[in-house]
Amino acid sequence: MTKKIAVFASGNGTNFIALHQAIIDRSMPVTIALLVCDHAAAPVVEKAQALGVPVLTVNFRDYANKAAAEAAILPALQAANVDAILLAGYMRIIGPTLLTAYPHKIINIHPALLPKFPGRHGIEDAFAAGVTTTGVTIHFIDAGIDTGQIIGQRTVPVKTDDTVETLAARIHSVEHQFYPDVLQTLIQEGAI
Ligand code: GAR
Repeated sequence: MTKKIAVFASGNGTNFIALHQAIIDRSMPVTIALLVCDHAAAPVVEKAQALGVPVLTVNFRDYANKAAAEAAILPALQAANVDAILLAGYMRIIGPTLLTAYPHKIINIHPALLPKFPGRHGIEDAFAAGVTTTGVTIHFIDAGIDTGQIIGQRTVPVKTDDTVETLAARIHSVEHQFYPDVLQTLIQEGAI
């Protein structure tokens, strides 16, 4: 049976594109039923529209608080029969409204080797710390910041002549393989 996922993203959407393309290339039994974005002007919105993926943009400033904003997202997820949520550069903490509705079904990709360098600047923080190895973590979401159960990690070397930009490019290219690999495994295992 084909599973349905929602992708949540806030920015460029290169991971969204990688997931979308891998689903096609690998004939995965999964559909991106909805893109949820918290910035109407984010590049990911146009990318999703161009691919015919339904888009829900939610301006959190229009709501009294996170719970109210997530309560506005939830019916769209339910109407689309979403089985799981993949965060792909979604720069907000998921609140209890969505966590309760999708227990152990919300997954995040983080551009560092958690528990090291959580938060919004995982690449920059690892670079500034002078580590020689960093990487990518995919994990289930819980109520903390980048603290949920780790599904998998891939390491990425930091080269002596790296800039933040060259390191970021190397991390992103790993992410674009790794996230589809994990999605495929979770589907095969029946975890989502
Ligand atoms: C990715 O590198 C992802 O790991 C990171 O945002 C980027 C989004 O890129 N996520 C976080 O930092 C979450 N704390 P994209 O919009 O091109 O997919």
